[in-house]
Amino acid sequence: TFPKRVKIVEVGPRDGLQNEKNIIPTPTKIKLIDMLSETGLPVIEVTSFVSPKWVPQMADHAEVLKGIQKFPGINYPVLTPNLRAFQAAVATGAKEVAVFGAASELFTKKNINCSIDESFQRIDEILKAARAANIPVRAYVSCVLGCPYEGKISPAKVAEVTKKMYSMGCYEVSLGDTIGVGTPGLMKAMLSAVMQEVPVAALAVHCHDTYGQALANTLMALQMGVSVVDSSVAGLGGCPFAQGASGNLATEDLVYMLAGMGIDTGVNFQKLLEAGAFICQALNRKTSSRVAQATCKL
Ligand code: HMG
Ligand code: MG
Repeated sequence: TFPKRVKIVEVGPRDGLQNEKNIIPTPTKIKLIDMLSETGLPVIEVTSFVSPKWVPQMADHAEVLKGIQKFPGINYPVLTPNLRAFQAAVATGAKEVAVFGAASELFTKKNINCSIDESFQRIDEILKAARAANIPVRAYVSCVLGCPYEGKISPAKVAEVTKKMYSMGCYEVSLGDTIGVGTPGLMKAMLSAVMQEVPVAALAVHCHDTYGQALANTLMALQMGVSVVDSSVAGLGGCPFAQGASGNLATEDLVYMLAGMGIDTGVNFQKLLEAGAFICQALNRKTSSRVAQATCKL
């Protein structure tokens, strides 16, 4: 059985734009986020307070977070890799943050320059500060269906890392198929293992579409009871530290499928298409959303 309602976490302004080589003007990023707010999406991940040496595209994180319109009822989390980032984000007005780790040692090293155990310590520091400041913390676990450096990742390892993040105090853990290699069978095996350790209500899926499996993998997760799905407008996305990874599941495609299944998302589809068209024009590229590409309208 499928959930009656799905919460979509729009990650385009962060996951989508972080991978763009050319620096995008800050006002363009702000306009995109404001347009996404108009669609009724409940959560929009805005930017990352990461080191500008590591991800130059996110160097304007403070200006973006300050510059956007904050709609009542919409959450605007930002990525924070360490305590310093958390403090900067809160000082800039962040009301929610997201931390990130991985089920792969080698990817953790490439992405955040530490071991998995060290990443837990950093996350714990953030969680302590967040508890004192009353800030909810979301978590990502990357490489849940495969790693660009280690290859196969066992469901048991994903379950272990996810359980740790949840038990430390993250309210939701998003399971990332960072390089989009998973298939529904693998998703089922991985989620079965994770759901033995963490309540399904606290889980989200985050599927990149490199191999064209993102929608199928997401559907499998929904069938298993997951009701929070990350996606990216126009299917933008990728991680600069996961070579060859392409965009996320396109929000347009997700909303189209869910609407067709009678599952409520609260998203205005037309306004979503407009936001996607805006950012594709600004980036001078074709959308990766199949629904947005389609010319045979119903
Ligand atoms: P490091 O180099 O190990 O840290 O980076 P360090 O403590 O040695 O510091 C190095 C320099 O960075 C120093 O500057 C620090 O001051 C500075 P220097 O002394 O050389 O001038 N620094 C900072 N600057 C700004 N803000 C900070 C900060 N902290 C240190 N917060 C660090 C460690 C974690 C900072 C770095 O590795 C980093 O920023 N990594 C970010 C990686 C990233 O953004 N990856 C993409 C997002 S994750 C993703 O896309 C996956 C996801 O979508 C899910 C999925 O698809 O699976 C979420
Ligand atoms: Mg991602």
